[in-house]
Amino acid sequence: MVDRSGWVVKNTRTGEALDKDVMTVSWDHEMARKEGYPTFMLKEIHEQPKTVKDGLKVYDKDIELLAEMIANAKRTYIIGAGTSLNAAWVSFYWFARLCRTPVIVMDSSEFLEGGICDEDTLVIGITQSGETYDTLAAIRFAKGFRAKTASIVNVIGSTATRESDHVVMQNSGIEISVCATKTFTSQMIVLLRTALALGKMLKSNESELQAVEAELANIPRLIEAVLEKKDEIDRAAKEYFTRQNYLYIGKGISLPTALEGALKFKEITYFHAEGMSSGLLKHGTISLIDDNFVTVAIIPSNGENRSRIIGNVQEIKARGGMVIGVVSGEPVEQCNVSLCAPECHELIAPFPLTVVCQLLAYYTAVHHNRNVDRPRALAKSVTVG
Ligand code: G6P
Repeated sequence: MVDRSGWVVKNTRTGEALDKDVMTVSWDHEMARKEGYPTFMLKEIHEQPKTVKDGLKVYDKDIELLAEMIANAKRTYIIGAGTSLNAAWVSFYWFARLCRTPVIVMDSSEFLEGGICDEDTLVIGITQSGETYDTLAAIRFAKGFRAKTASIVNVIGSTATRESDHVVMQNSGIEISVCATKTFTSQMIVLLRTALALGKMLKSNESELQAVEAELANIPRLIEAVLEKKDEIDRAAKEYFTRQNYLYIGKGISLPTALEGALKFKEITYFHAEGMSSGLLKHGTISLIDDNFVTVAIIPSNGENRSRIIGNVQEIKARGGMVIGVVSGEPVEQCNVSLCAPECHELIAPFPLTVVCQLLAYYTAVHHNRNVDRPRALAKSVTVG
């Protein structure tokens, strides 16, 4: 019992006061909020097994309504900014592979320049804060043409929740670190579940739908397995952190993981990092490769895309570049180092492989003493155009 005069521990049945040893915890208020982690970002990265589970509990009816809206639209745009745009890009591959449904992914800041809207158009805004100016402007623009609108949002009561025809709350809990980690994996869970619901409605690709659905419940464990390897990822970050230039490559669904990996990296390390498809590499960027250039290759567990990216890795090595493999399944001997997540379906791999990229960016930034929770020049939500 605690009151103004102090505290006392009592036996709840008898009411008798008990003699207890006092342990003084050396945490201040800020440390308590971080639950013992040195930064909010590391805490939020570690929360992902739980937040993904919470994303799996988002109401079916909210997800199904979003899937129905896509089924009924003649044209669907999925828009966002920063990390939310990368979540939209991951979903591009899910809607293509699981639903055979093309969606148009756009940077919300460009939507007013190229978005074509009418009453058969659906615009889905991905915005964890629900306050990003460009995404709200795009939703308002779409409404001006009587298009349908929906949002995937984390912050209850935010502007996007009030202004969209349909809202799916992603249920990640508050995210304090400026750069998005757990809100990204929650957005992905909502989008993947939407693609699965739409795929079922359309009966589009039943064998792959079943295979992916069977692995959904395993995603938290895949992420946990990556978190257990954080020391190994830290060692790789320490080995390469003096390099100034980073290229992230992927193919198919591993491309948006590369885009998000590069974004996270530049946000908090302040080094140049860019993400691109491995196919685009030979159309210009390969001329940059030298022994000061680190390539992070996102490599799926099997199939054609694994061998294709390994082909790119060999080209980079032949030019003196160093390669960190962010790998699903077995290590890749052609890489200088392989940071491996457990093998899983290629369409599920963005979850564990993104967490590897988050930790790689995190530890590199820590080795440079960056303020990872509050990177320079960035804000949690950009409410101006
Ligand atoms: C800012 C943040 C990014 C975030 C983006 C979109 O640029 O620094 O981390 O991804 O806004 O935010 P939203 O709230 O719309 O998801």
